[in-house]
Amino acid sequence: MKRFVSGVALVAAGIGTALHAQESADRAARVEQGRQVYEYWCEPCHGRGLGLPGFGALPGTHQLQIKYRDTDIPAVLDERTDLVPAFIETIVRQGVSFMPQFRKTEISDDDLDALSAYLTRNNPDKR
Ligand code: HEC
Repeated sequence: MKRFVSGVALVAAGIGTALHAQESADRAARVEQGRQVYEYWCEPCHGRGLGLPGFGALPGTHQLQIKYRDTDIPAVLDERTDLVPAFIETIVRQGVSFMPQFRKTEISDDDLDALSAYLTRNNPDKR
């Protein structure tokens, strides 16, 4: 009986580990999908690299350098550790300043969800 019980416990632990591994794999795939959305739609303004002549950075990075100049918050969006989905989703759907809004025909709800998973991947308060 003791053997049976520990056998059951082992199987349960095994299932738990397998489920956990599956969850991590799903999450990794989601983050990767989001990374691709980011690279296509956001990086041209929010990435590293030079901006237009006379600007030391791309427009999104440049504006955020100014906005966060007295803080530790990085200007490059995908280096942030403080972003939460609601903020990202609101900005993407409504735009801000000269950042355009993005329609569902450009970035679907599913892609936006993946994008949020990517941009919040390093936020310890939001998993
Ligand atoms: C045409 C350039 C451009 C593109 C493309 C762009 N952005 Fe922006 N984004 C900006 C600018 C400029 C700002 C700063 C606006 C301001 O002055 O507050 C900004 C601000 C933001 C902010 C607010 C950050 C903060 O802390 O205030 C978020 C979040 C954001 N963008 C997300 C995105 C995402 C996600 C994408 C891709 C879907 C994207 N942006 C594409 C130009 C762009």
